[in-house]
Amino acid sequence: MYYPDEIVEEVRQRNDIVDVISSYVRLNKKGSNYFGLCPFHNEKTGSFSVTPSKQMYYCFGCGKGGNVITFIQDYENMTFTEAVRMLADRAGMTLPETRSDEARERENKRAQLLAVNREAGKYYYAQLRSPAGERGLEYFRKRGLSDETMQRFGLGFARSSRDETFRYLKSKGFSDEVLRESGLFNHRENQGMTDKFWNRVIFPIMDTGQRIIGFGGRVMGDGEPKYLNSPETPVFDKSRNLYGLNIAKSTKAKNMIICEGYMDVIALHQAGFDQAVASLGTAFTSGHANLIARYAKENVRPGEIARYKDILLCYDSDGAGVEAAKRALTTLRTAGLSAKVIDMKPYKDPDEFIKNLGAEEFAKRIENAENGFMYEIRQLESEYDLKDPSKKSRFITDVATRLLRFEDPVERDGYAGNIAYKYDVSPDSLNEVIRKQAVEMGGITIAPKPMPTRGEKGSLDDATRLPQSRLLSWICDAPEVYGIVSRYISADDFSDPLYRKVATILFDQLDNDRFDPANVVSMFTEEEEQRQIAEAFHQNIGHLESVQMRENALKDLMLNVKRLSLMRDDRKDNDFNRIITIRKELEELERAHISLGDNE
Ligand code: GTP
Ligand code: MN
Repeated sequence: MYYPDEIVEEVRQRNDIVDVISSYVRLNKKGSNYFGLCPFHNEKTGSFSVTPSKQMYYCFGCGKGGNVITFIQDYENMTFTEAVRMLADRAGMTLPETRSDEARERENKRAQLLAVNREAGKYYYAQLRSPAGERGLEYFRKRGLSDETMQRFGLGFARSSRDETFRYLKSKGFSDEVLRESGLFNHRENQGMTDKFWNRVIFPIMDTGQRIIGFGGRVMGDGEPKYLNSPETPVFDKSRNLYGLNIAKSTKAKNMIICEGYMDVIALHQAGFDQAVASLGTAFTSGHANLIARYAKENVRPGEIARYKDILLCYDSDGAGVEAAKRALTTLRTAGLSAKVIDMKPYKDPDEFIKNLGAEEFAKRIENAENGFMYEIRQLESEYDLKDPSKKSRFITDVATRLLRFEDPVERDGYAGNIAYKYDVSPDSLNEVIRKQAVEMGGITIAPKPMPTRGEKGSLDDATRLPQSRLLSWICDAPEVYGIVSRYISADDFSDPLYRKVATILFDQLDNDRFDPANVVSMFTEEEEQRQIAEAFHQNIGHLESVQMRENALKDLMLNVKRLSLMRDDRKDNDFNRIITIRKELEELERAHISLGDNE
């Protein structure tokens, strides 16, 4: 944050959320809240709520939420600072220039780099459509791209020149320093700056805010290197951006497709699969996985467990592609996502597949995509000679170890059943091997912590987070219960790190009579965190008729949070005293009678 917290707070308080949002969304009052059609997803019924008492908004349909600043960021596609400035303007405030010189310079640099990219993108785009770009246009057409597709992806052309692009951008007033940092030029002693991309077709790479952050350039025909990419710059982080996500983020498709290359994404989109993205040149990283998780999350009703679209890997069918797919599966699993694998055979990649067999056949391949776990096992199979009983036994042991990664016994049994059937092992023998392996690995319970799977079914993740967010919601809706809650629960009891931070701030506010949920959101700068906090503050507690039901529900929630507190991963052994205290508190809470009577 570049503005001091007090300034941001003042800006926020001088902009009533209902006033601000009313100028974008038609709101109707219902009880103490306002409702309207969510501006962030397509809907016919109004699940978008604005709560004056919390000064927050939340969509029960798509889960977007936050305070007045995050609303402007989201709606106007602005950075935090831009949103604060706009709201300050709206409230007639003049903001002091208080950002540190360093921070101001950094932001200025980023803005300039984006401006360079935008100009360069426009320049390459125009070149492709000029006489000089005829070869590029011909190349793209030969690869089957329509003019509309070329336009949608902003494709361009860099012609053979030493430094024409450089001189063009110079003429637009950019400094040598910024141009050097843009990564679009080579800089050699005595030669000055020369164009990095020449005689190549150009693929601009955009972030989800539709800003050009880098470029890829391909030789037309043979030549080395086939693809040349911009280096990482302050605006281009390769491990946190996916090619095509700027379009795929609004797909209506029920799945997301991850493939390897530019042309694969473009060919898929042109064939109607606008849910395709690619990690570029670099391996698929956890940053990519988190990005996918965010956009693959389905809209669910409040209180329901998160669901994700199918994530489909569509990598090259050669050996390198298989290796890359296996690694991507592991990365996705670590991020809590399961995926399926699309088989491209006999073709090398989706681009070639579609060219030869067409979109309909590709849709069938999507239908028939193989479960990621079964795919891994099938690849593993090729390392063993299954005709040899002792090798088959080792293979099954290897499989058993992998089956132990599933925490959910039902899921594990499901896969075990498939494996037993497929490899002709009796379920009893397989279970025996699994049990043995579990013991070998130190017992299932202390086996390497299995990753929670974000699947269709209730995941570990959601099961542990829900009671915590419900309790936070309850306190936000009825801050008067804090008096009771604080007797048994402290912020430290929240096992989820983000909720723990939220509870710390919220409880501190309540202790000091400064209850203000929207202010909690302001304390976090990451969009994803802000969204999660808004979500946590808007859990549906449900309508509980009697005081007694409410008392029981609150007690259950507190008990759940307390039990989870005991299991906090990061409680080290030397936290032993703390654990004993929590156990005592838990017993006390179990015996306690919660009385809401005088508080309501
Ligand atoms: P086309 O031949 O244009 O269809 O490309 P492809 O996508 O079939 O090529 P390939 O499978 O070889 O490459 C997949 C992706 O890897 C490309 O889209 C690039 O992002 C990246 N890539 C391929 N070749 C190179 C290279 O020589 N250098 C770099 N940096 N990246 C490459
Ligand atoms: Mn290809």
